[in-house]
Amino acid sequence: MRILSGIQPSGRPHLGNYFGALRQYITLQDGNQPFYFIASYHALTAVQEAARLREYTTGVALDFLALGLDPAKSALFAQQDVPEVTELTWILSCVTPMGLLERAVSYKDKIAQGLSPNHGLFAYPVLQAADILIYLSELVPVGQDQKQHLEITRDIAAKFNQQFGEVFVMPEPYILDSTAVVPGIDGGKMSKSYDNDIGIFDEGNVLKKKVMSIVTDSAPVEAPKDPSQSTPFLLLSLLASEDETKEWEARYKAGGMGYGDVKKRLLELINDYFGPFRERRRELEKDPDYVMDVLKDGGMRARAVAQQVMDKVREATGLPTTY
Ligand code: ADP
Ligand code: TRP
Repeated sequence: MRILSGIQPSGRPHLGNYFGALRQYITLQDGNQPFYFIASYHALTAVQEAARLREYTTGVALDFLALGLDPAKSALFAQQDVPEVTELTWILSCVTPMGLLERAVSYKDKIAQGLSPNHGLFAYPVLQAADILIYLSELVPVGQDQKQHLEITRDIAAKFNQQFGEVFVMPEPYILDSTAVVPGIDGGKMSKSYDNDIGIFDEGNVLKKKVMSIVTDSAPVEAPKDPSQSTPFLLLSLLASEDETKEWEARYKAGGMGYGDVKKRLLELINDYFGPFRERRRELEKDPDYVMDVLKDGGMRARAVAQQVMDKVREATGLPTTY
């Protein structure tokens, strides 16, 4: 099956990105044809400093590789290495009703956060549709917040196919219920833009401080507590074994447990789980040529597919190239 997903190089990835999306990238590698890309054109809507965008882009490539992305199984590439995707964006824009974009929640959210909107931010879901459709992708692993973008993609694909013939495949989102929305240290959705995240590669005191500052209620130690409403518990349950999770659940309900205990255990679990990935990232950092070679090879593989699909799109729309 053709799997595709992308992540913006707009900062360092966090536990929400990992459990909501990145971990699924890795597990879906076997027996499929995955394409994973660094959504640098998307990030340009917000990151407008060349050095920073370049640095974040190689940073995300390192993150992916450190977390277990295997270039022999998956094509890993930077979005700008397939420039045809911007050509498709224009063509799709012409079959995209304005109303569809005006209803996009992520655009409204970003405006509400005070971002001054550029046209790229408004047109963002059309670029995302092009990303997905240009590889005839069937399954798109993402977190819950991307569900609407997938619906928009499907609407655009249907419009195009209806108008010009069946060129595109209808993609399906792949969203795991258990990790659809990972909470941040303030209890809201974990996000780079809300300053409430725990980074996958955070360590030492930075990590400790974040875990210890997770917001909890002011119930005294002896009081019984509700685990389902408690951020430290919800995060712990992503990392602990089933048995251990049940034990903590019982301890919450029984009372006599302070939030400090569960946070300490959470910190240990994060270090145990992500420690080896941090080590691997440090190793990979020493070999920037290897990372560049991986991106180059992935870009060429992805572009070959995109070019074939674009030939069909140009034919179908009456825009064949003349030379
Ligand atoms: P952010 O909100 O931090 O900017 P991105 O938009 O870069 O994150 O998201 C990259 C991927 O991670 C997407 O598939 C998104 O759905 C997923 N994701 C982000 N935050 C979370 C979260 N808190 N819980 C689950 N999945 C998430
Ligand atoms: N919009 C996605 C995010 O913010 C990133 C993205 C861009 C993407 N193009 C995509 C995700 C295509 C899946 C498929 O996380």
